[in-house]
Amino acid sequence: MHAYLAEWLSLIIRWFHVIAGVAWIGASFYFIWLDNHLREPPQWKKDKGIKGDLWAIHGGGIYEVAKYQLAPEKMPGELHWFKWEAYSTFISGMALLFAVYYVGNPGYLIDTSKAALSAGGAIAIGLGTLAVVMLVYEALIRSPLARHGLAFGAVLYGLLVLVAWGLFEVFAGRGAYIHVGAVVGTIMVANVFLGIMPAQRALVDAIEKGQEPGARVAQLAARAKLRSVHNNYMTLPVIFIMISNHYPMLYSHAHGWAILAAIGFITAFARHFFNLRHHGVTRPSILIISALLTLALIWAVAPAPRTGGEVRADSPAVTDAAATTIVRNHCVACHAASPEHPAFQAAPAGIALDDLAGLLQHGANVRQAAVDTHYMPLGNMTGMTEQERAQLGQWLNQNAP
Ligand code: HEC
Repeated sequence: MHAYLAEWLSLIIRWFHVIAGVAWIGASFYFIWLDNHLREPPQWKKDKGIKGDLWAIHGGGIYEVAKYQLAPEKMPGELHWFKWEAYSTFISGMALLFAVYYVGNPGYLIDTSKAALSAGGAIAIGLGTLAVVMLVYEALIRSPLARHGLAFGAVLYGLLVLVAWGLFEVFAGRGAYIHVGAVVGTIMVANVFLGIMPAQRALVDAIEKGQEPGARVAQLAARAKLRSVHNNYMTLPVIFIMISNHYPMLYSHAHGWAILAAIGFITAFARHFFNLRHHGVTRPSILIISALLTLALIWAVAPAPRTGGEVRADSPAVTDAAATTIVRNHCVACHAASPEHPAFQAAPAGIALDDLAGLLQHGANVRQAAVDTHYMPLGNMTGMTEQERAQLGQWLNQNAP
């Protein structure tokens, strides 16, 4: 019952997180689009301080949007801020991190062949990484580096690759992936909370007091602009990382961190195409290069021809009884129609291995998860040996060649 309710909790938080993220990124895309499509307004609007306008049709009506150079003469009674989209995405994301990983199953984070972490140790590394990387980013954006956009971009990318590599050294692949995603998401929400919102508040304050916004407001605004450029380039990568967390072919790869680095580059570069296009510059070469790089990545991470678990003339055949023992010792606590493991209500990933028929049915997946890679058993909690993996592979070859 407990596992059943925990599944519902995680499902509901995930659902909320996706909706909040759609609202955040949707609003962000919309405002970038708006900014990039503003055209020079007629003189009478310029006289009112409007620097650009545009017309749009949606939902059966025509909209007229105007952006002021600074602010209207009189501040409107109701001014809409867009911050809860970001905050609720972050809060629900953290809740999900706790529900699925920290409280739900820290085993997703642990891979004893990389580091023999305790659950507490893994959680401390996870949360510590989020905090430290966010602080480093905050220090950088307040440093002179912030005056050199391209160099900053390169440093930020290098920092994130370093984080991906470091996490991959200590965490199981899936745990490393979700934490890289969480790091990027945390930087993005900190950009809103610590930079963009304060800059907007300073501007509104100055205007309400009837002052010309001074140098300080201008400086805050310039930095907020840089932060939103960073967020813009991180939107496509962060979404990719969140969903790639469901693809063991990526996170179980021996160089999973390098795959993340490549994907981060490709997706941010693809974003650049859209940014240029909004400014009327269409450069298809960017999309073509992104597509070619993606093909190169697909080629580079393709599984190597199998080496483990070959049927060798000199090795004795693996009996059904031996295969059953291996699976019973290492898999069935979780992968059963009704698992004994308290964290699971039903067979994880729908893979029940109660009997040899189940093992045969899922043979290809089992080989990938437990023979070709060490993704299973989760965190190698049961201490499955290389020999047992090879035997399992051999039994599969004998029975499902
Ligand atoms: C501690 C519990 C646990 C043990 C033990 C365990 N698994 Fe899993 N297994 C899981 C969970 C949880 C998932 C779903 C993970 C995911 O979605 O990435 C999973 C997923 C899988 C998948 C699907 C992976 C995919 O491609 O999505 C396979 C295949 C698998 N396990 C095989 C095995 C085999 C074979 C063993 C024994 C050698 C084993 N597992 C032991 C919990 C376990």
